[in-house]
Amino acid sequence: MQIKKAVIPAAGFGTRFLPFTKASAKELLPIIDRPALDYIVREAIDSGIKEILIIISPLKEEIKKYFGRNIELEEFLTERKNFEALDLIKPYEGVKIEYVIQYEQLGLGHAILHAKEFTKDEPFAVLLGDDIFYSDTKPATKELIEVFNKYDGHILSTMTVALENTNRYGICMPKPNQKGPVFELLSIVEKPDPSEAPSQIATNGRYILKPSIYKYLEVQEKGTGGEIQLTDAILNSMEEEKVFSYDVKAKRYDVGSKEGYVHATIDFALRRDDLREHILKIIKELNTLL
Ligand code: UTP
Repeated sequence: MQIKKAVIPAAGFGTRFLPFTKASAKELLPIIDRPALDYIVREAIDSGIKEILIIISPLKEEIKKYFGRNIELEEFLTERKNFEALDLIKPYEGVKIEYVIQYEQLGLGHAILHAKEFTKDEPFAVLLGDDIFYSDTKPATKELIEVFNKYDGHILSTMTVALENTNRYGICMPKPNQKGPVFELLSIVEKPDPSEAPSQIATNGRYILKPSIYKYLEVQEKGTGGEIQLTDAILNSMEEEKVFSYDVKAKRYDVGSKEGYVHATIDFALRRDDLREHILKIIKELNTLL
């Protein structure tokens, strides 16, 4: 079955980015001049997806504004014949963006449950609203879709992390004696202590899920951090679904963390012709101070 729909959970409190997140969505933090969430929406579109559901909280209505039209501004720019700026604010053509509100922030698993009406009985992509990926060849979600087209099961994007960091991710236990890059999983555990981690293969923010996941999310109890975890529902769904991990080639930035956000800002600036030389100059100056 083709993947036509994407779900972007963006309703979390964003406590790692306080005080900014007290009144504003971290998903709208700009990486240079474009909100992080816009890179994610583009990744979905570039992966062939035409219908997107963004899960927001009541405090994050501003996300709707960003993806909607601003007629006054369009008129202002048209009058001044500023077509370059006009081009930057035009809505995505042929793409439908919908919203659903998660009123209580009970965790990622609980957020995904809000997509049931939208995805119905189709498999769908999940792109976490605070992880952005860069690739000059293939978007991360497209990589996962290609894996899904060959393997029947949930597909999780992964990366290898340092042992001391396993307590920040969902960690996979692959079946033994497999070659990769796709691994069938035996188990998965949310944020294990390094001493208990089954591997250093960590989930990193992109998933293709089959609709059977809802059955498990509906009965999923709170887990790590007192939250309803997607990882736990994926684990329980293994009684009927295969689950595969795949090390995506695209480079991932956790822009929900301060270090990841600054890293993304620097890397994206260095990739832009209008900024590269300026930023390199600043970095060189800083380097002489080190
Ligand atoms: P995170 O755990 O990274 O986000 O969830 P958070 O809870 O907002 O941030 P911290 O950890 O407190 O700093 C991953 C994604 O899932 C969404 C978040 O918005 C983020 O994009 N999420 C999380 C929800 O939509 N609902 C939730 O209840 C929890």
